[in-house]
Amino acid sequence: MAKGEVHSQCAGYTLPVPNVQSLATSIDKSTQIPERYVRPEVKADPIAHNNEIELPVIDLAKLIDPEFSKEEAAKLHFTCQEWGFFQLVNHGVPEELIEGLKANTMEFFNKSLEEKMLYKQNNDGTLQGYGQAFVISEEQKLDWSDLFYVMTRPIALRNMKFWPTSPSTFRDNIDRYSLELTKLASCLWQYIATNLGVAKEVFAELFKDHPQGMRFNYYPPCPEADKVIGVSPHSDATGFSILLQINDVQGLQIRKNGEWIAVSALPNAFIVNLGDITEVLSNGIYKSIEHRAMINTENPRISLVAFHGPDNSIMLRPLPEAVGDGKLNYGSMSYQEFMKALFNKKLEGKSIIDKLKL
Ligand code: OGA
Ligand code: NI
Repeated sequence: MAKGEVHSQCAGYTLPVPNVQSLATSIDKSTQIPERYVRPEVKADPIAHNNEIELPVIDLAKLIDPEFSKEEAAKLHFTCQEWGFFQLVNHGVPEELIEGLKANTMEFFNKSLEEKMLYKQNNDGTLQGYGQAFVISEEQKLDWSDLFYVMTRPIALRNMKFWPTSPSTFRDNIDRYSLELTKLASCLWQYIATNLGVAKEVFAELFKDHPQGMRFNYYPPCPEADKVIGVSPHSDATGFSILLQINDVQGLQIRKNGEWIAVSALPNAFIVNLGDITEVLSNGIYKSIEHRAMINTENPRISLVAFHGPDNSIMLRPLPEAVGDGKLNYGSMSYQEFMKALFNKKLEGKSIIDKLKL
């Protein structure tokens, strides 16, 4: 694809909305939060448990060790079926890199609004830069967060205009992290393919050039935290996402058996969640799980989510190996159409994938 062409991975448009980090500093316990951020559904749809549940743990070191691989791969399969979410430990990404990237990210968000706005989104259709996403109407309720998004792979699609030059090591750390996660994603795909009875080469072809985007989320604290939502309920339109909690503040909730549960992860573990693309390819053997991010009254929360999508040109449909002699559960749609549908509406659970269900 030619450079500059809109990549369907993010063929999006979003209306400009206020910067939430600045808004949050301007209100205190005596001022009410603006109506556009008040979400009555939080009360109507509360969490099922008061305590956080630790996500299932997958150990990459065991997965690649011939002695333990079979057992850990079976655990991975079970976890993908039952949870669609897990934390990955012993993932091999150097701690020094993770610490550097965490420090860079915090420093970036702590800069003045003016400095961050040097990287603001410019509605070029890629949604890259600093701002928000999925705002399509003036009436729509808003999420209590700001984001900063860059496309990191294929490398030809990088737009360095959006890559901050300060802190000075930020660009290099994003680049190194991008490569580390690409290697990690390729490794995980091999086990997922094998677990689904699909040849590794099939997944390698579907995910060739390793399309990858990175979304840094900033969730400011809110005096009325129980009235707002950090990120609206959604499933990710990816193969899978790899989330790192930058400042070790929890806030992720997942919908399991119809109920919201708050989950927590170990420091420096990655939270991996399967996306819509994997749900369709696997014919629903694996599901993309709805999740949302919630806010607390005291501390900002920062996360970094790396999305790993398929090649732009694929046709999205269940793989014959996953269907076997069973029933076909999803229709087909080009990935480009799928992404267009996604970005032309607000984030709303799994509404796009539900349309593909047969
Ligand atoms: C996302 C997302 C959750 C979080 O960016 O897609 O689901 O905890 N983020 O930041
Ligand atoms: Ni998500």
